Amino acid sequence: MKTSEIRQKFLSFFESKGHQIVASSSLVPGNDPTLLFTNSGMVQFKDVFTGAETRPYVRATTSQRCVRAGGKHNDLENVGYTARHHTFFEMLGNFSFGDYFKRDAIRYAWELLTTVYMLPAEKLWVTVYHEDDEAYDIWANEIGVPRERIIRIGDNKGARYASDNFWQMADTGPCGPCSEIFYDHGPNVWGGPPGSPDEDGDRYIEIWNLVFMQFDRDAAGNLTPLPKPCVDTGMGLERIAAVLQNVHSNYEIDLFRNLIAAAARETGTSNLEDNSLKVIADHIRACSFLIVDGVIPSNEGRGYVLRRIVRRALRHGHKLGQPRPFFHRLVADLVAEMGEAYPELAAQQARVEQVLRQEEERFIETLEHGMKILESALAEIPENGVLDGQTLFTLYDTYGFPVDLTADICRERNVGIDLDGFEAAMQRQREQARAAGKFKAAEGLSYQGDETRFEGYDSLQGTGRVTALYVDGTGVESVQAGQRAIVVLDATPFYAESGGQVGDTGVLEANGMRFKVADTQKIQANVFGHHGEVLEGELRVGDTVQAQVDAVHRVRTMRNHSATHLMHKALREVLGAHVQQRGSLVDAEKTRFDFAHDAPLTHEQIARVERIVNDEILENRATAAQLMSYDEAVQGGAVALFGEKYGDVVRVLDIGSSRELCGGTHVARTGDIGLFKIISEGGVAAGVRRVEAITGDNALAWVHQVNDTLLRAASTVKAQPGELVDRIGLLQNQVRTLERELERLKSKQAASMGSNLAEQAVVLDGDSKLLVASLSGTDPKALRGMVDQLKDKLKSVVVLLAAPADGKISLVAGVTPDLVDRVKAGELVGMVAAQVGGKGGGRPDMAMGGGTNVEALPQAIASVEAWVRERLGLQVQA
Ligand code: ALA
Repeated sequence: MKTSEIRQKFLSFFESKGHQIVASSSLVPGNDPTLLFTNSGMVQFKDVFTGAETRPYVRATTSQRCVRAGGKHNDLENVGYTARHHTFFEMLGNFSFGDYFKRDAIRYAWELLTTVYMLPAEKLWVTVYHEDDEAYDIWANEIGVPRERIIRIGDNKGARYASDNFWQMADTGPCGPCSEIFYDHGPNVWGGPPGSPDEDGDRYIEIWNLVFMQFDRDAAGNLTPLPKPCVDTGMGLERIAAVLQNVHSNYEIDLFRNLIAAAARETGTSNLEDNSLKVIADHIRACSFLIVDGVIPSNEGRGYVLRRIVRRALRHGHKLGQPRPFFHRLVADLVAEMGEAYPELAAQQARVEQVLRQEEERFIETLEHGMKILESALAEIPENGVLDGQTLFTLYDTYGFPVDLTADICRERNVGIDLDGFEAAMQRQREQARAAGKFKAAEGLSYQGDETRFEGYDSLQGTGRVTALYVDGTGVESVQAGQRAIVVLDATPFYAESGGQVGDTGVLEANGMRFKVADTQKIQANVFGHHGEVLEGELRVGDTVQAQVDAVHRVRTMRNHSATHLMHKALREVLGAHVQQRGSLVDAEKTRFDFAHDAPLTHEQIARVERIVNDEILENRATAAQLMSYDEAVQGGAVALFGEKYGDVVRVLDIGSSRELCGGTHVARTGDIGLFKIISEGGVAAGVRRVEAITGDNALAWVHQVNDTLLRAASTVKAQPGELVDRIGLLQNQVRTLERELERLKSKQAASMGSNLAEQAVVLDGDSKLLVASLSGTDPKALRGMVDQLKDKLKSVVVLLAAPADGKISLVAGVTPDLVDRVKAGELVGMVAAQVGGKGGGRPDMAMGGGTNVEALPQAIASVEAWVRERLGLQVQA
């Protein structure tokens, strides 16, 4: 049975049992920072299990694309070394949302396996959670599985519910006991039944996991029963295909055989058993689907996982002797295998190829160099030795070798890696970078005093005690008028730059002392330094000061920051969930927001984002900030930034319909933002766009300025603003008409000039004439036409016209057919041009040239007659 048929039969079977066939969801879970990637079929139904979301059906079935790489479930390191590990795989599943429970889940599974897939019942073994008598009885009494093939699995991981037969997606969320079905590959394969000491062998392979979802686990580990018990099952498509196709390894199923053959073709490999081919075949699936789902290779988060997988594939290609980009060429083969089941893959083939090719080209160059360095390091290391951290770091930092890639190569040579040494080298580099950085003084200060209490969320003024003063990086006891210093306070309303929001400005005052704060930066995580200058008086450690934040600066910054949250949400709504923040800078002028997306935004998309944000502003809802545990926040749907570290307690900001984790300062109601306008959009790096937007009085000033320009433009062309476009169109037409008219007049003028000129021709011999003229002020473009007319008119003639203008000379020569055997226009123009510091040439009857030496022109022209006469074999007149 082909893999595609197995997938289809599964879905049809459950459809016939009243299940809705639901499409696979994206590999990037929507709004769920607890997960790096979708790692099982139930992810898209997580909220349905807990009752937070309802759907129009209570039974569903899916074939879900899953990735287990880089996150909590990480199989990347095992790919290529085992028969059953993948970075990407498909999970077949059926789900009940408070409808059927254990009995039907077990019956359906048994019926499908034994009557549709026709597996012999005696080859199937099952496990149940040790306390689950109900499941045990159903298997034993209703299905009739012999008791020696039903195994109870206890809490083999140390605590209650910590068991192979108790499934949970992550540390929190829906969970429950499960029952697993195993297939016995027969006595020829080594291994023991589940629960036995030899269970890790390959003989008994788990093919299907039936989870009886009963609880919701919170961050403290408490289990609350779900509103109604549910079912979540998962069967690895590749595993069941291996069983049904009578092969032992997943890599031998039809789908993989074809991909492996394609990988062999692209790398010129004849040995189809080579493990590197398996790695490449596995990785092209993960990489292509990740790109389809909006992930782009980058240096952080999901993008870095993708980059690591691509680079690992390229390294294996390199190992097979393929030094050039090849990986992207496998996308077409993948589309042939999976494009029908996943139309989104087929639709994006060209884009996936392009992203992969770019990424390949980026790495291929350094791969070769990096391999040389690694090879020479490995040559020095004995078997079972360790590669030092500095080399590991150099490969990572300079040659783009992810650590796991280097580890993979070392593993092939039985060499370990020094991860601690790597971390140390990384740390050294960070410190050097910091030492060279802008806030060196601020960050390097030694400080032992109290932390700073930030009181600026609700107030722009407050009182603080000076706990330290620094001048030029050194602690001092006092500072005087005229000195620049950093002031640390035990409490302050000044916001210190973080989370993309700039630091506050303002003043600190005490008896006769004024300190102007130009910026606020953290000198330690919770210690704020006020950077600025003493304007009057003296400031001492221990003094109490009145702190006053510059309200205009702060309020503008807050508007921009709050608008950033609304814009982030709107961008995801308009462009898709792949939009992820890649960086931001919020100051009093604007918000600058970088995000993952790989095409320029259209005018319509920008307009939609603006409309969504301005609608939220008009709704004028109160914003709210609450402190809560990270897990609680994330369960409540807050958007956390990937790769960002959060403490256990986080601040959750609700602004309009957006909910994000954020420590910044924000407006009280969305209406305070006033007006939101995007003023620019562009690309900053492959797959990263940048928008800049303004708010409040800045946006209003922008509107006024645009309006002003519009009014001035309208009055310049004497139109109302509303008529401006029509008027400009009209003017352009007029200009075109006038240009045509001008052309006509010019050629007419040239013609009449031509006939005047004709009279200046001198007779050389019989009917043949010579005409040489310098026509200053004539448009050089008209010369050619004039020469043609003169040739027509004078019948037998040699013409040379020169037009000097602005220090440049244009030359055109023409010769009538009767004379071209003796006088060549090209030579004539060349001869003249040479005398005026230029060049010329062309056909015998028509040629052009030019020069720059205007002063030499009269003499050059004077030389023409003698030159022509000589060519014609006439006597040269004195
Ligand atoms: N969600 C269950 C699993 O992944 C079915 O095994």
